Amino acid sequence: MKTFIVFDKYTKREIPVNFHKYDNRSDEAVVAYFIDRYSKKEDKVIDIFAGLGTTLFLAEEMERIPYGIELIEEKYQFIRKNLKNKDNIIHGDSRKLSEFDIPNCDFSFSSPIFMNKTESINPLSGFTSEGGYNQYLKEIQIIYSNLKTVMKTNSTIVIEVSNLKNQDVLTTLAWDIAIEVSKVFHFDGEVIVVWNIPGLNLKDGAFGYGYDHHYCLVFKNI
Ligand SMILES: C[S@@+](CC[C@H](N)C(=O)[O-])C[C@H]1O[C@@H](n2cnc3c(N)ncnc32)[C@H](O)[C@@H]1O
Repeated sequence: MKTFIVFDKYTKREIPVNFHKYDNRSDEAVVAYFIDRYSKKEDKVIDIFAGLGTTLFLAEEMERIPYGIELIEEKYQFIRKNLKNKDNIIHGDSRKLSEFDIPNCDFSFSSPIFMNKTESINPLSGFTSEGGYNQYLKEIQIIYSNLKTVMKTNSTIVIEVSNLKNQDVLTTLAWDIAIEVSKVFHFDGEVIVVWNIPGLNLKDGAFGYGYDHHYCLVFKNI
């Protein structure tokens, strides 16, 4: 496995203006790289934190069958409107994944909503209920345990995540998620993803997380 990948551009497709403020989508080149590497045409690809649909749209374009879950209704509606396989995006909470009718999947790419260890509102609830970092990590483990029930044997699960540096507070989110999800799937290793974008000041982290690189954590369902 190549463990360090440099991309020359950071690409996102056009989205309506009302989504610009909270645009935390994945880079298309990164998602496409992993879909291509770990799935083939006609395979079922699932993203349980679908966001604005990067994984689902790319999977469809790459002739896979996309599935996804997204908590926020507006985002769900956006995906549904623009996806050919409209019924394959579920409006719901991944913590309740076992309640949804999802077929066995061949590959999963997801980027969970991030949390700093000092925060006290649980982002997995759509920021509607209290809950600290330990609860968040416990629920991440539950979510990926639920995902396991729909993943085929020997399939690959990739999680894109970053550590977070917020002023003086460092949250080892990527490493903590690696530990939690390792309790569910076999951890195959991490791929460090960086971007070589002319003119972009990477000194203090270009993506709002305090870092200029992401981790793609690669797990196997063995
Ligand atoms: C980092 S974003 C994913 C972005 C996505 N990779 C993209 O490119 O559009 C995380 C997403 O997870 C959603 N989310 C948060 N908690 C959730 C939950 N419990 N179940 C399902 N989706 C959730 C958020 O609303 C957000 O859209």
